[in-house]
Amino acid sequence: MALSTSSVITLNINGEKRTLPVDHRTTLLDALREQLDLTGTKKGCDHGQCGACTVLLDGSRAVSCLQLVVAAEGREITTIEGVADGDRLHPVQQAFLDFDGYQCGYCTPGQICSAIAVIEEHAAGWPSAVTADIRPEAGAPALTAEEIRERMSGNLCRCGAYVSIVQAVAQAAETEARRTAGAAEGELTA
Ligand code: FES
Ligand code: FES
Repeated sequence: MALSTSSVITLNINGEKRTLPVDHRTTLLDALREQLDLTGTKKGCDHGQCGACTVLLDGSRAVSCLQLVVAAEGREITTIEGVADGDRLHPVQQAFLDFDGYQCGYCTPGQICSAIAVIEEHAAGWPSAVTADIRPEAGAPALTAEEIRERMSGNLCRCGAYVSIVQAVAQAAETEARRTAGAAEGELTA
């Protein structure tokens, strides 16, 4: 009996359901770009080395060139096209604009998706390889430039916009921390 090599699957992408036929060997990156017209996600190395294809899967970052699209069925996929809130840019997008965190822009969608997850990982207290004190009681480390560089090290920028990218991530993290603190204060005074 010949085994089927294709299926029709339904993906949850940027809050919408998208149904498409796929060859089982298709990566999420190729399905996004070639079949779903979501070309904001970029192909750099196609080998999991550059981060250009980074998307969010259930809120965590993933390189979509190493992910088979059939394995993404049932998960929440967020691409760069889905991070803004309508016409309002995501704070990380705004910070990249404010700090000129790009030159050619090819790596930028992946950098922004990664940065969104980095800020959430840091806020949740995840240590990185350069965190000096990883004891749980030490709490989250300060999000220094060194911490940002380490946490963003899977995203390469051939233009070398790293200095501005680090500034943009730091700014976006501050904005997010202020927003979270404001929301908590509003809850206390409500
Ligand atoms: S294209 Fe996926 S990591 Fe480079
Ligand atoms: S802005 Fe050109 S590769 Fe990063």
